[in-house]
Amino acid sequence: MSVVARTKATGGPLDPNFLAWQTSLPVDRQLLEQDIRGSVAHVAVLEAAKLLSAGEAETLRVALAGLPARVASGDVELPLEEDVHMAVETWLRAAIGEVADKLHTGRSRNDQVVTDFMLWCREACDRLEHQARAVQDAARAWLTANGDVPMPTFTHRQVAIPVLARVWMQAALLDPLERDIKALSLARAELAACPLGAGAIAGSTLPTDPNVAARELGFARAHHNPMDAVGDRDWALSLLFVASRMSLHLSRFSTDIVEMVSDGMVKLGGAIACGSSMMPHKRNPDLFELVRAQAHLRFSELSALWNTVTAMGMGYHRDFQQDKEIAFANIHGVIKCLEMTVLGLGHIELVPERCLQALRDGDGIATDLCEALVAQGMAFRQAYGKIGALVVAQREKGKRLVDLQAADLDAHDLPHSLLSSLDLTKSAQVRAARY
Ligand code: ARG
Repeated sequence: MSVVARTKATGGPLDPNFLAWQTSLPVDRQLLEQDIRGSVAHVAVLEAAKLLSAGEAETLRVALAGLPARVASGDVELPLEEDVHMAVETWLRAAIGEVADKLHTGRSRNDQVVTDFMLWCREACDRLEHQARAVQDAARAWLTANGDVPMPTFTHRQVAIPVLARVWMQAALLDPLERDIKALSLARAELAACPLGAGAIAGSTLPTDPNVAARELGFARAHHNPMDAVGDRDWALSLLFVASRMSLHLSRFSTDIVEMVSDGMVKLGGAIACGSSMMPHKRNPDLFELVRAQAHLRFSELSALWNTVTAMGMGYHRDFQQDKEIAFANIHGVIKCLEMTVLGLGHIELVPERCLQALRDGDGIATDLCEALVAQGMAFRQAYGKIGALVVAQREKGKRLVDLQAADLDAHDLPHSLLSSLDLTKSAQVRAARY
């Protein structure tokens, strides 16, 4: 074991069992690439401050830059240390000798880990946006074949009013994901200040310039306050909020699909349908059920991160080590569900006859009939009562509103003109024309 972060004052070597338990290396090795970028930026800071010669800086840069590829190829194994930051420093010391001892000048793992994590979160914003747009594209492609199909809307799980499928798809995926993409801008804005140089908690007395690090790493500016910089996780909370909300939106869409599959209004392609091990007739919507279920995990992670940060005093505390495990699970999970939704959209198809059947059986034309009477001058509440009575009369005859005949209308003292308002497709088209 290395001597990084151990002095006489620390009090002897770490218990190996404790080291193995508390290390974050299995999780934060995912940050190796970001850690190297941060260290290379820090080399630029030290060189600009004349704390490294040009030759020393170049030696450090070359060794650091080559590490991710060497680890990926199996040429280098990161040593077991408390975390990826110490593992890199230990490896560097062994690889290039004493010059490695200068790298940690004016920084701490506290600003280092925040820098790495923020770089990762910045990329996560881009990946989420990219995948959410892929879902929107797949939804639009789905609309070319299905968008003009009249389908029922449901309130309280009961047939409500006809719409064209494109209105439903807009509500289910297109508009909510657009809001999510916009909401990412809060996380992005909070990810704009570079924490590198905040050190352990109060910066450094050395002539290091945090603006150099900010520039090198593509942040808009350097941090404003070092205590806040190492203890702030608002950007992670904002990111997980938006990511988890994306998952929530996918779950609501998925439920509609599961229900429409069950009602026969959506046909599921075999490529995404699972069978039953016992019942040979099944074609189950497992993809959508799993995407729906994942949203619960995402909320648990958001809540776990929130709780990790709650009541934390200023500065860094080791509790923060949990934040990455939580965030990685959350973002990886959301991205996978977005990917699966793209796949799913390629394997679902509306069944127009079943959609119309549901509208007929559920008397989805009732509100249109009320509005037709209103258009002829009747007060809405009057029309509402008359059509309600008509619904009951038809059902008593084993019929529905769309089966109305002139005699049925006569019996309720209603005009024959209502017969021209029974077209479910026209109803869906007229309503959709506004949106
Ligand atoms: N592994 C730690 C984390 O993930 C890195 C920072 C450690 N800093 C410290 N002072 N122990 O948060």
